[in-house]
Amino acid sequence: MNCVQIELGDRSYEMQIGPSILKKMLGDVQGPAMFVVDDNVMPLLGNVISFGGEQTLMTMFASETNKTMGSVEKIWDAMLNAGHDRETTLVAIGGGIVGDVGGFAAATYMRGVELIQVPTTLLAMVDASIGGKTGVNTKRTRSNGSEIMGKNLAGAFWQPKKVIADIQMLQSLDARQLRCGIAECVKHAMLGNPVLLTFIESNAAAILNCELEVMEELVFQSASIKAKVVSRDEREGGERALLNLGHTFAHAMEPMPELDLLHGEAVSIGLVAAACCSEALGMVGVGFVDHMREVLTKLGLPSRMQTALPVSEFVSMMKLDKKNKGGQMRLVLPEGDCGAVITDGVDLETISLALRAVGAC
Ligand code: GLY
Repeated sequence: MNCVQIELGDRSYEMQIGPSILKKMLGDVQGPAMFVVDDNVMPLLGNVISFGGEQTLMTMFASETNKTMGSVEKIWDAMLNAGHDRETTLVAIGGGIVGDVGGFAAATYMRGVELIQVPTTLLAMVDASIGGKTGVNTKRTRSNGSEIMGKNLAGAFWQPKKVIADIQMLQSLDARQLRCGIAECVKHAMLGNPVLLTFIESNAAAILNCELEVMEELVFQSASIKAKVVSRDEREGGERALLNLGHTFAHAMEPMPELDLLHGEAVSIGLVAAACCSEALGMVGVGFVDHMREVLTKLGLPSRMQTALPVSEFVSMMKLDKKNKGGQMRLVLPEGDCGAVITDGVDLETISLALRAVGAC
């Protein structure tokens, strides 16, 4: 088993990573607990956990449209009805949506109860379960009057006590979900971690086959990168914003129903869009964008949108990004061979050019 330490003073915690560790680790959860489990994961748990007495269970249908305050309220209600008080630990078992919603319920139930994150997707293992970001989507009105979800616009920082990543769970992921997690690993690699980028490129086939040893190493390396950033900047006062590489574009694309993109797919296209901005601004060498497209394609990830929507649709969503300050758009852009910087005031022309390069019209 591998361990990653998230150093946050008296709120430090450990992430445990290994195959078939879930039964033992969940067996160690003592006392009152509320398990919030992704519908899709429930059948996989079999005899891994037994509920009863002061340990209760609720399942959750995980979708971006269900990542709402309504779902948080359902968790509060279930906890109240089961008689849970402040001594309860909420254990969120599932992908990033269950982790974010369950985490927000833990942050707010009776002003906060302990949380254990049990990520079961690659994306949640390498990103969402680490660092204490919890929250929900909020409704936005599009220029055509229809409603879409504004990604993660309400939430709280609430660090878990522990993160348990059972690598065996990854083998039940469908190929599309697995690739979504790989996109976040590529993002971590692009933040100045060429060793991880080389590891991903040279083990692409084994990663896509979800071979356990390679996956454990991928999760360990990727989670270690995120843990270090979070330890240095828990509340995103500075450096942590780098973890949003590709995400300002991705959060504008993901809610558009016409595009039918999962989060990691939108991140993949967003990474290319960010690289296009850098290329236009002379921040990366010639050929950088082509190399990125090549790597992402090798990993089965998209580098452009399949339906052309107007640039203005994306720009109005990007203006809502949480990183923006004083109405100025703030982007994270690749720089040099393998690094990224937070950049303010990128002009609309460059952003539009990048959006067109990934399929907007
Ligand atoms: N997913 C970006 C962060 O946790 O800061």
